[in-house]
Amino acid sequence: MEQDFGKLDAIISAYRGKKGVLIPLLQEAQNLEGYLSRPVLKYISEKMNVPAAEIYGVVTFYSMFRLVPQGKHIIRVCKGTACHVSDADGIKEALIENLKLEGGQVTTQDMQFTLMEVACLGCCSLAPVIMVDDQTFGKLTPQAIPGILEKFSF
Ligand code: FES
Repeated sequence: MEQDFGKLDAIISAYRGKKGVLIPLLQEAQNLEGYLSRPVLKYISEKMNVPAAEIYGVVTFYSMFRLVPQGKHIIRVCKGTACHVSDADGIKEALIENLKLEGGQVTTQDMQFTLMEVACLGCCSLAPVIMVDDQTFGKLTPQAIPGILEKFSF
């Protein structure tokens, strides 16, 4: 099936011919679908006349770029020291169990949630901590996880 690159074309047009625009261009392109698919990267490479290897170098270097689709809600589990010693592993296990993630899967089947580990979230006194999108939840127990997920399941 031919992919419609209309919106991507508009973004590319705004940047074409300018220098040092690859990162902002890729960020805007990512905003269209939440990630950068292979066809999108190939298209950008062709239209911007930038070698694919250079583009892959950029998107794999910067952690803000995503090469696979992500869930509607991003759950960040803090694995910093304070959280680690406060049973962050138990919190992560409860998340995996409640989200029914299997075999290292990080995104739920229904694309509602993506689970990731991060270093210190900067609120160690609340350990163990998770963030769901931009909301922080601290002093957690595994038992609190279903109620938190419930808030975001609609
Ligand atoms: S170690 Fe988790 S918030 Fe700092």
